[in-house]
Amino acid sequence: MAEFALPKNSRITKGVTHAPSTTPSDRKRLKTFKIYRYDPDSGENPRYDTFQVNLDDCGPMVLDALIKMKAEQDSSLTFRRSCREGICGSCSMNIDGRNGLACTTAIEDVKGDIRITPLPHMDVVKDLVPDFTHFYAQYSSIKPWLQTVTPAPAGKERLQSPEDRAKLDGLYECILCACCSTSCPSYWWNSDKFLGPAILLQAYRWLADSRDEMTGERLDELEDPFRLYRCHTIMNCANVCPKGLNPAKAIAEIKKMEAERVV
Ligand code: SF4
Ligand code: SF4
Ligand code: FES
Repeated sequence: MAEFALPKNSRITKGVTHAPSTTPSDRKRLKTFKIYRYDPDSGENPRYDTFQVNLDDCGPMVLDALIKMKAEQDSSLTFRRSCREGICGSCSMNIDGRNGLACTTAIEDVKGDIRITPLPHMDVVKDLVPDFTHFYAQYSSIKPWLQTVTPAPAGKERLQSPEDRAKLDGLYECILCACCSTSCPSYWWNSDKFLGPAILLQAYRWLADSRDEMTGERLDELEDPFRLYRCHTIMNCANVCPKGLNPAKAIAEIKKMEAERVV
């Protein structure tokens, strides 16, 4: 299992072991998961519980194993999920030291025991569920919608050329899973002020949109030693994005726009 930063509230105590009922013949297909458990209302420290799952009787993805553990071994195990196909971003978590989506991470791609924790450096609501309140407030702060001053053409949509539309590729696909931001050391230490890679990628998505007419105002808002410039191009964000996006590149484009603008 790889090492990675734990969630904020992490004084680990001894956990519980859960095992399925097995016969000797199917024991060799057992996979061991060590799952971070924490309930702030209990007053107890976090712990790792050990679950064993028979892979012959389980779907191929980490999310399949979590659903099976919850259904068959401990119904109090808490995690988020919705779409089960890498679209909603709900099931982001740290799987064996790497942030990713549980529904698109194959169990067999992780050798040995699998340790699962919530996304690093986030407050924990319960078990594998991080608190996204601050992340969403930061998202809201960049005004993630089309802003215009000129009226739309009567009875028509605001059109874009195919070339201008293509400029949004690599940006619009972001599912706001926060895998990138919570793998960024600058975000770990300065998330109160640094917007982080996910939100900056979203900010660039609107700066790059040919229909948006608030480019100057958007750049004014981002021109700040912390909000934008805490990115030191460490590139964890691009390495970890489950959608193959490159937030570091988007951040570099914003910095270029800031440097080239005429004020
Ligand atoms: S490139 Fe910037 S945003 Fe991405 S991980 Fe590094 S410091 Fe964070
Ligand atoms: S850029 Fe990638 S890792 Fe970051 S929030 Fe969007 S989809 Fe998730
Ligand atoms: S459940 Fe939607 S992305 Fe994993």
